[in-house]
Amino acid sequence: MKVLFVCLGNICRSPTAEAVLRSLAAREAPQLSLVVDSAGTAGYHIGDPPDPRSQAAGRARGYDLSALRARQVGPADFHHFDLLLAMDETNLAALRERSPAGARSRVQRFLDYAPGSGHREVPDPYYGGPAGFEQVLDLAEQGARGLLAVIASRRG
Ligand code: 4NP
Repeated sequence: MKVLFVCLGNICRSPTAEAVLRSLAAREAPQLSLVVDSAGTAGYHIGDPPDPRSQAAGRARGYDLSALRARQVGPADFHHFDLLLAMDETNLAALRERSPAGARSRVQRFLDYAPGSGHREVPDPYYGGPAGFEQVLDLAEQGARGLLAVIASRRG
């Protein structure tokens, strides 16, 4: 199962979700062979490490984001990944628009896997304060747990 998390800049939300899912999967579902990656629909931050605020908030919960680098979603992603999981409605719409003919990937909202969270979108923390980065982590943990449960149950 190959999963790509998608936000706007690929420096806050999607790298956080990538690190959280990778870490929880290694700890709680090592039998699943998961490939996890992230990308942005925009290209402003290509090659940049995650935002220092995302790195610090993640580190405080034991997630290491430091090696990740931003990239932009490209046509090949729609063939390579099983799931493209958008952080919000805008990025979901951007993925649906860009999906090429013959695409293999399913495009969904990440928080479809966190039905108890009370959120359909992971709010963009970029222009806000520290609480936004904590909320990204809270929602990423809920979504990642929900996704792991679904993958594990489908696998039987
Ligand atoms: P992300 O957050 O989409 O969660 O990575 C943002 C990062 C950068 C910008 C906006 C959102 N920006 O406008 O540069």
